[in-house]
Amino acid sequence: MSLILGIETSCDETAASVVEEGVIVRSNIIATQHKLHERYGGVVPELASRAHLERISPVISEALEKASVSFADLDAIAVGNRPGLIGSLLVGVSAAKALAWTLNKPLIGIDHVKAHLYAGFMQIPSADPKSQISNLTSQISNFKSPISNLKSDIKPFPALGLVISGGHTSLYSLASPLEMRVIGRTIDDAVGEAYDKAAVILAIGYPGGPRLDKLAQTGDASKHRLPRTLLGAESLDFSYSGLKTALLYAVRGYPVGKGSSATFEKSAADLSEEDRRDLAAAFQEAAVETLMKKLDRAVEQLAAQGERPRSLLIGGGVSANSLVRKRALEFGEEKGLDVRLPAMSLCLDNAAMIAGLAHEHFTRGDRSDFKLEAISTSR
Ligand code: KG4
Ligand code: ZN
Repeated sequence: MSLILGIETSCDETAASVVEEGVIVRSNIIATQHKLHERYGGVVPELASRAHLERISPVISEALEKASVSFADLDAIAVGNRPGLIGSLLVGVSAAKALAWTLNKPLIGIDHVKAHLYAGFMQIPSADPKSQISNLTSQISNFKSPISNLKSDIKPFPALGLVISGGHTSLYSLASPLEMRVIGRTIDDAVGEAYDKAAVILAIGYPGGPRLDKLAQTGDASKHRLPRTLLGAESLDFSYSGLKTALLYAVRGYPVGKGSSATFEKSAADLSEEDRRDLAAAFQEAAVETLMKKLDRAVEQLAAQGERPRSLLIGGGVSANSLVRKRALEFGEEKGLDVRLPAMSLCLDNAAMIAGLAHEHFTRGDRSDFKLEAISTSR
């Protein structure tokens, strides 16, 4: 059995988690900084790293306490060391190194984006945590790898992966949880970023994605037709800036003049509640339909190369979106794919996914050394 402490500080959530055997989330502590950044309409890196520094120790202590484990029980310390804001990543990486050094435990650096794709394999014991944990533990104790554990009838690899977050919109072909190649990515905005900007255009507040999702559920998407940018006929890349601009013009009319001196005939304040809902629904429909079209292309192209995926792994903040979840399940049904959506508490940035993927590295014998760096980019 492995017990791994995961630490995550790449952006604006300070998170720590203890995960058993790579799949059972014994604790998942997330201290969000949303309130701190709300007035600026986005994350301020300086404020984020200072807040991580204040919160990291209590968050780690709480993760151990909730999981009923002590430092001595841990098998390894894992940390998201890329990609993210350098100042933020540094806090988590330094904490992980200090713990690994003083406890004399293995240190494992994890790519945050890859970890998002692992979240769909993880389980959160609920209701009566103690009995659920022992149940799950006995269920999996006969297996070596968590990936083959829980649904031993389904072999999820090769898999198609989609990471949709505030910083990423990327498609992957995965041969295993640790072997993946990028087959498509956004050429401009990430889909979560487009949601956040659309929420600003509609003046519905921060954080934009969840608010827009909620509003869209009460609107009529057919009232407005917003563009679906598919790029070339074979392209697996994404583009969301055109959709965002089309929404801006639908809300404010066409601009007069250029650049910072441009003026608009209308403002978001002129929208009726009904207009706002319908525009949110039209935006959501266009954004999600584009994702689904690309997934469809990817499955067909991989199949033509003899790599037809068996499953679809989706992760990142936008995997919490109601329409994404609904359409992904329908798509899986249609294509015969096992769809792995993360539990809602594992969609947004969290440390459980870091500890989960670390288990795969741990069992393979991968270890990081104390030169482990904080790196702003993904591999
Ligand atoms: O993965 P994440 O927590 O952070 C990054 O690594 O970027 O994703 C955050 C992003 C934000 O852009 C947020 O607006 C978006 O996920 N998001 C959503 C929803 N919940 C979060 N977007 C659309 N619908 C949602 N329900
Ligand atoms: Zn993320």
